[in-house]
Amino acid sequence: MSAIDQIKAPIKEEMERFAPYFKEMMRSSNRMLNFVISYLLRTKGKQLRPMLVFLSCKVSGRVTDSTMVAASLIELLHTATLIHDDVVDESFYRRGFFSIFALWKAKIAVLTGDYFLAKGLLHSLDTNETQILRIVSQAVREMSEGELEQLEKANRLNINEESYYDIIRKKTGALISACCEAGAYSSGADKDAVATMKDFGMLIGMAFQIKDDLFDYQKTGLIGKPKYNDIQERKLTLPVIHAVSKATFVERKSIMRIFGKKSKSSADINKIVEYVHQYNGVEYSVNKMEELKNQAVALLDKFPDSEAKKSLIMLADYVVNRDK
Ligand code: IPE
Ligand code: IPE
Ligand code: MG
Ligand code: MG
Repeated sequence: MSAIDQIKAPIKEEMERFAPYFKEMMRSSNRMLNFVISYLLRTKGKQLRPMLVFLSCKVSGRVTDSTMVAASLIELLHTATLIHDDVVDESFYRRGFFSIFALWKAKIAVLTGDYFLAKGLLHSLDTNETQILRIVSQAVREMSEGELEQLEKANRLNINEESYYDIIRKKTGALISACCEAGAYSSGADKDAVATMKDFGMLIGMAFQIKDDLFDYQKTGLIGKPKYNDIQERKLTLPVIHAVSKATFVERKSIMRIFGKKSKSSADINKIVEYVHQYNGVEYSVNKMEELKNQAVALLDKFPDSEAKKSLIMLADYVVNRDK
């Protein structure tokens, strides 16, 4: 059994109900949109966020109708932000296929993303899930802030470790944290339990983004999206931030000159990757990621042992060990 199947075992029935619910939530009467939607439904991702919603719910209580709304709303907004992100990053691949940006270009990608955001808002109003909507909307606001801050830093090529954590807290931590908070909230758990799950999600979310950022610097197989996109897009991520902080002044100048190039040759990219390895940027980031994951898992001590708790621990391990 794959790691994902094992993680899903206690929420098998919920994930089976999730698929048609999510499909229905995406539905549109517009012909153009329906081409895009059916393409998206055929190229679904790992669905870690709905899994986190259901598991965070079950670790603290019972699944309710609100749990299903939260899971679908979050996956829908996640899909919208990925479609927009590929426009911003000018990325042609997603989930092992061409991105919406590659196939339909920026205008349709932006408008489709907007359509999903609106669909999500309406669905939460129709189901009267204002608290779930509040949790998720705050996360989406933070994501936009995070992506904007990242863009600004990439333009100025100026970032330190603290501002990197700030960015990943917002752009990735916030939504994963919202999964766990909304999941726990939907079970009727007490304030303390909801707050603990929110913290758990933030730590796992940050570890998740460090892992994603490591893909540019680690030997990996196919990850379903372009490799070296962060380097091309001048995103200063933890491995390179650490390496730069350890290098001599002269070396730093030379590597930043290459990093700043708008278009980099494969020799440029090799130089950057080599440089990051030379100063243990990968090792350092892996350690940070493990530290965050361990802090997250320790928070689960507050909950009684259960199958859902076991799966959350497995999911935390999967986040730092995954290969896509
Ligand atoms: C990708 O998230 C965006 C990041 C936060 C790095 P996922 O890797 O969870 O995307 P899918 O849904 O599985 O494709
Ligand atoms: C995360 O950033 C994207 C969002 C939070 C929307 P990335 O730009 O690293 O995500 P990928 O690598 O394109 O999936
Ligand atoms: Mg991207
Ligand atoms: Mg990435």
